[in-house]
Amino acid sequence: MTSTNQHLTNRPRRLRRTASLRRMVRENQLTVNDLIYPVFVTEGENQQEEISSMPGIYRYSLDLLLKEIADAANLGINAIALFPLISNDKKDNAGTESYNPDGLVQRAVKAIKQEIPEITVITDVALDPFSTYGHDGIVEDGTILNDETVEVLVKQAVSQAAAGADIVAPSDMMDGRVGAIRQGLDAAGYFDVGILAYSAKYASAYYGPFRDALESAPQFGDKKTYQMNSANSREAIKEVALDIAEGADMVMVKPALAYLDIIRRIKEYTNLPVAAYNVSGEYAMVKAAAQQGWIDEKQVVLETLTSMKRAGADLILTYFAKQVALMLQ
Ligand code: PBG
Repeated sequence: MTSTNQHLTNRPRRLRRTASLRRMVRENQLTVNDLIYPVFVTEGENQQEEISSMPGIYRYSLDLLLKEIADAANLGINAIALFPLISNDKKDNAGTESYNPDGLVQRAVKAIKQEIPEITVITDVALDPFSTYGHDGIVEDGTILNDETVEVLVKQAVSQAAAGADIVAPSDMMDGRVGAIRQGLDAAGYFDVGILAYSAKYASAYYGPFRDALESAPQFGDKKTYQMNSANSREAIKEVALDIAEGADMVMVKPALAYLDIIRRIKEYTNLPVAAYNVSGEYAMVKAAAQQGWIDEKQVVLETLTSMKRAGADLILTYFAKQVALMLQ
């Protein structure tokens, strides 16, 4: 076959020809430093319960959680995000167990900081694991009270800081909570405890498996009066601007994969580190397809997380953290 294009000036394929050329012009690189590993803690000893909608992810009792976190630290993972399964008898409307100084989260944080001091501990600030209604705030006549909830969130955040949390991460989406938490932490002397704000958190069907893990599905209605409408993009900038003004150290977009455009917009808007949460439903979809043999799990995971970096994420919360840390070794 004779070539008709001998003199084609631009041939982008020149830079894709060999593996070394491709490595040299690679624009984005996923590293273990980007990963935050979300973990689930439950009461008891020697407990390890797999979450059926999240194959490979377990709720661990504290003794086994410490082993899991030590493993993660040995793989080079810098940070964990801690979420508790709270028994029904400890739940109430105001989530009072959330600021119990001897609560599960507080005990877990103390133990983790004692045993594995090098790992950064990020705690979740929200009422849903502690709420009889499975909502992120106090319920009255079917609505979620904002300012009353924020008062509880401040107590929760301060109690987590007292236990030794490095960073508190409000995931509740109440208005004004970042500023109130900052003031509360400062007043209690925790100037150095940071805030990772779930700023652009959408009302998403991708959270289903997480709610299985924590038995925290809303008992009525949905979370659309506080979490964002997935159709909105400018509103994400508004939320981020407020959280920065109120004292956030880092901002987050959640979920990640269906919101890569939001990650990009926020990255262009702020100089703060931007985190993306590769949520439970995103994890479950990949695992389910891989179990069927329909996709190559490893390649899909790397491609997906790299797309989040490319969109602008500096940090990625992902249940794949340990798996990816191993792949990157
Ligand atoms: C609730 C919270 C949720 C997640 C993290 N914190 C669920 C929700 O808002 O209902 C979801 C995480 C995931 O799906 O992996 N404060």
